[in-house]
Amino acid sequence: MHEKFLGLTPPLGWNSWNTFTWNVSEQLIQETADTMVSSGLKDAGYEYVVIDDCWSLRQRDENGFLVPDPEKFPHGMKAVADYVHAKGLKFGMYSCCGTHTCAGYPGSFEHEFQDAATFAAWGVDYLKYDNCYKPKHIDCETLYKRMSLALRNCGRDILFSACNWGTEDVHSWIQGSGAHLFRSTGDIQDNWESIKNLAQSQMQKMAFSGPFCHNDIDMLVVGMHGGSNNEWIGSLGGCTDEEYRTHFALWCMMNSPLMIGCDIRSMSDETKATLTNPDLLAINQDVECRGPYRINGNNDEQFILVKPLSTGELAIGLFNLSDRRNEISLQFWDMGIPAAAGVGLELYNCWTHETEGRFTERYAARVEPHACMVFKAKLVQGL
Ligand code: GAL
Repeated sequence: MHEKFLGLTPPLGWNSWNTFTWNVSEQLIQETADTMVSSGLKDAGYEYVVIDDCWSLRQRDENGFLVPDPEKFPHGMKAVADYVHAKGLKFGMYSCCGTHTCAGYPGSFEHEFQDAATFAAWGVDYLKYDNCYKPKHIDCETLYKRMSLALRNCGRDILFSACNWGTEDVHSWIQGSGAHLFRSTGDIQDNWESIKNLAQSQMQKMAFSGPFCHNDIDMLVVGMHGGSNNEWIGSLGGCTDEEYRTHFALWCMMNSPLMIGCDIRSMSDETKATLTNPDLLAINQDVECRGPYRINGNNDEQFILVKPLSTGELAIGLFNLSDRRNEISLQFWDMGIPAAAGVGLELYNCWTHETEGRFTERYAARVEPHACMVFKAKLVQGL
């Protein structure tokens, strides 16, 4: 999105893990890249196509190099990268700071500089770096700094996606490591409880997210509807479209990277409409990347998130994560707007794309269970 500044705003893209886990292939990546373009996802801003775990052989070659599985990737990785690049997209891959990846393939431990050079030679633009099989005597901070340096000096711009699941107080040192995003949570599952738990777990950590280093609350499950090939992620279950909309709005308001996890080749119109909502994407991609503050701070089930935008406007989300319909009331005073100053807000609804009207002092709405309302609010004076 912002070519000159790698990682300025949260990355937007697609990742193979949530739906396909071990079942990755050249054909899948090519068809996904094709669909990114033909469906309009690319025009909406999505740019990275990322292969997660399970892409290599179980052993390095005799010179210590990683080898793509020739059955899954018969023309090698450079060919896959070239295909993705020819579509005007960027190509991402996955490795791990330990001796093995979580699925048991070779990790980059003590091969960091060699692997960074390999990824650069293949034309990789994004590296997700996991945390399995990490030797006990070394801390994450050291290993993530190491790979970050290797990538920053490999001769190619490679976005660095650190994935240590929020362990070792990652938010307190990750900025200094040079990573562009950091996973702060365990793995998402395709169900409402998981979405709710991940969002709630990071409410107090929003201030640690900012330009060039984004708090990643894990990839999207929007549109999966139970479509994973992995039971644990959610081959059963799934969510309603309303729940997926709330999930997407939370991730946008919380400045998380937006990595699509469903099979976009067969996504529904509702899924596409959610993922390409221009107003929500604009909130997520606001150039100042300010984390939201929360009103109703003591209530994890119903709360309001407010995010100041670079235009002077405010993005405001009313979230009802509870199982009951509820009125959520926003007092403008809590955002620094005293009615006596004659200042009010014009609210634009980011789901209906219509202006709701001008309001002074307060705004209240009934919000359905597991639903949300998101507004872009413009200050109006002289009311
Ligand atoms: C997990 C990671 C997931 C996925 C998986 C692959 O550790 O959090 O997002 O990458 O490993 O095995």
